[in-house]
Formats: sequence, C-alpha cells, structure tokens
Amino acid sequence: MTTTPHSAIIIDGVALSQKLRSEVSARVQALRARGITPGLAVILVGDSPASQVYVRNKVKGCQDCGFHSVLEKYDASLTETELLARIDALNHDPAIHGILVQLPVPKHIDATKVIEAISPQKDVDGFHVASAGALMTGLPGFLPCTPYGCMKMLESINYDLRGKHAVVIGRSNIVGKPMALMLLQKNATVTICHSATPDLKLFTQMADVIVAAVGKRNVLTADMVKPGAVVLDVGMNRNEEGKLCGDVDFEGVRQVASAITPVPGGVGPMTITMLLVNTLEAAERAENSQP
Ligand code: GUN
Repeated sequence: MTTTPHSAIIIDGVALSQKLRSEVSARVQALRARGITPGLAVILVGDSPASQVYVRNKVKGCQDCGFHSVLEKYDASLTETELLARIDALNHDPAIHGILVQLPVPKHIDATKVIEAISPQKDVDGFHVASAGALMTGLPGFLPCTPYGCMKMLESINYDLRGKHAVVIGRSNIVGKPMALMLLQKNATVTICHSATPDLKLFTQMADVIVAAVGKRNVLTADMVKPGAVVLDVGMNRNEEGKLCGDVDFEGVRQVASAITPVPGGVGPMTITMLLVNTLEAAERAENSQP
C-alpha cells in the first residue's frame, strides 16, 4: 500500500492580489468618473536599498491601478522639522488621500512624531495612534496593511476563525499586535508569543492558526505545528544563498499544515494590495465627507 504524503494548500498571494487589485481598479475608475483620482504620497528618507525596493513597488502598484502617486525621496540629512513640514503640506493637499512615510527613518528623526503628524484621515499605513485605537475599540479606521492582508488570505480559503485558537508570534505595532486584535475581532482565542516566551512550541502545537512575524528564519518548524493547522508567514529573510525566505520552514511545515503562505509570493504582495485598498477607501471617504 502506498500513502501519498500530505501537502498543504498553498495560499497564493500573487493570485489573490491580482483579483483584489482588479476590484480596486474598477472602483478607481468609478471614482475618476466622478472627478476624483485617489492619490498616495510616499516619502522615503535616506537610501536604504531594501526601502527603495519597497517604495518602488508601492508606487508601481498605485500606477497599475490608476491612482495618482508621488514619490518624494530625501537625503538622509533631512531634518525632522523639514519632514514634519512636508507632512503638514500633504495633510492639506486635496489631491493626496494617503500619506506613507517609509520606515525606518534615520536615527535623528523621531518615527513616532512623524507617524502622529500624519492626518488620521490619510493614515493609509494604519500606524497612527487614532488608527490603532479604532482597531482596538472596533471603530472604523485604517487597518495596518500586513495583518489586513493576512485576514484577506484567511478569508480567501473561507476559514472561519470563530472559536479557533490563533497564535501570533511577534508583538510589533506594525504586525503582531494589530494581527492579534483582528483575529480577536473574528472571535478567535488569541495568544501572542514573543522573544520572552520560554517554550514557543508549547503554544504553537495547540494552535489552529499560526502567524509568524518575527523576522528570523525557521522560527516555526514541522514539529511545532498541529496537523491541519493554517500557517501564515510574514517573515522576509534571506538564507545563506541570498534567497528570499520567511520565518517558517516551508518545506517541513507544508507536510503538516492544511494551508500555508509561501515566501516569496505570499503575504508580501498582499501588503501592497491592502495599501491600495486603504488609499482608495481614504479617497472614497473624502468624497463622502465633502460638504
Ligand atoms: N517598513 C516596513 N514595513 C513598512 C510598512 O508597511 N509601512 C511603512 N511605512 N514602512 C514600512
């Protein structure tokens, strides 16, 4: 008798992004027909090669969907005062509906001050304290793009979170914490694990859903996963050969999980897609709040 080795469904972030982006494009066309072109301003300070790639992809995503987008690149010597002045101008610019300052910013600039300077109505990254508070209390706001993309991936496989145990590995303000709140909102029982969790495996083995968002390779291996669990990999790392890889041992875990996201081609493209969704939403809200 032969047994076929089990292999998880691969949740394809590229295909899902294409589907969602075509829906975004259609809504952009409808807005443009009413005289409004959704606009995103992306600010990059300094010349980090990784950040340059990210912002280029964000601007390209905008152009492909019919948005107006501006990329403002500044030398690393830009002062905090100068950056805050630029944000203030963009806050008052009616052609701009979303403002994104690529992080990290140089050390002499206080990232918190920068994030809080962005108008909550234009906070398409969902990083402002008003957006975080809205998520926490269940009010409408902007959801941070990466965990929002993860939720869309679960939705794409019709996964019902009610009563499920979700384990989030990582507690950043950008991914871990908002991810936990979004899972909670969908009635999952949520555990947040982090660098001070003494026995990670103890928690992950009990999980129906695992989100790995640490930024370290092989944080999650097959022995740590309950058969049939759903695994979302937010990591973006490089292996010794320089190849892009996530936080999850993909080849091992796919033998145990029922569904898994790959890296590349998983959560990454979804992050940009949700930025487009948020920017479109910001433009639609601006239209609806006009006197
Ligand atoms: N740096 C890494 N991820 C992000 C992101 O989602 N938004 C911004 N603004 N900066 C980042």
